[in-house]
Amino acid sequence: MPLTRLLVLVVLVLPVAAVAADPPAPRYSAEGRLNLPTDYREWVYLSTGLDMSYSEGRPEADHVFDNVFVDPTSWSAFKRTGHWPDGTRFVLEVRSASSQGSILKQGSYQTEDVVDVEMHVRDEARFRGGWGFFTFSSSAPAAVLPPTERCYACHEAHGAVDTTFTQFYPTARTIAIQSGTFRPPARSPPR
Ligand code: HEC
Repeated sequence: MPLTRLLVLVVLVLPVAAVAADPPAPRYSAEGRLNLPTDYREWVYLSTGLDMSYSEGRPEADHVFDNVFVDPTSWSAFKRTGHWPDGTRFVLEVRSASSQGSILKQGSYQTEDVVDVEMHVRDEARFRGGWGFFTFSSSAPAAVLPPTERCYACHEAHGAVDTTFTQFYPTARTIAIQSGTFRPPARSPPR
């Protein structure tokens, strides 16, 4: 292809690619609060937990699913290295379960009811220890939770890769083990 035609192609294609690409870093409001990404349901799906609980005692009466998503840019890097890179954003979305509806006789499905949305974000320049936790009570931006919150201690002590619970995400778990980045988690129940 003549050079001029190639250049025209590059100039035409590049802006489209730039718009379509996932922004590779977390976005914050002017006050430094984290924006909840509107498109996280189009990110890479890692796993769904059902009624996962880390304390003794009777299970909750209402069943919930939690869905875990990670941004596609960080997933690409993770596949190469087995580490979650700077800029990684995880979303944990908790949804109500229902066992009644349509033709269902057994089992449960997820409803439209989003009970909770949480994020775990790697931003080395911004957070002490490199990672910040967030809970969203609405779609409004959320402030980072202080290091005294239980999130930090539990993820630090029991997360298998870079303070994340990669041990529960089947495809990611295999990649981490093969990359040698998987840290077998402590067995004792987290506090
Ligand atoms: C007692 C342990 C414990 C505490 C405390 C805890 N988590 Fe987690 N967290 C987990 C486990 C286990 C998973 C895996 C969930 C799954 O497999 O579906 C997880 C997964 C997550 C994820 C998905 C990404 C990742 O890091 O694996 C986010 C986001 C998250 N937690 C946010 C929070 C926030 C925010 C808090 C504090 C308000 C918190 N967690 C407190 C145990 C904990």
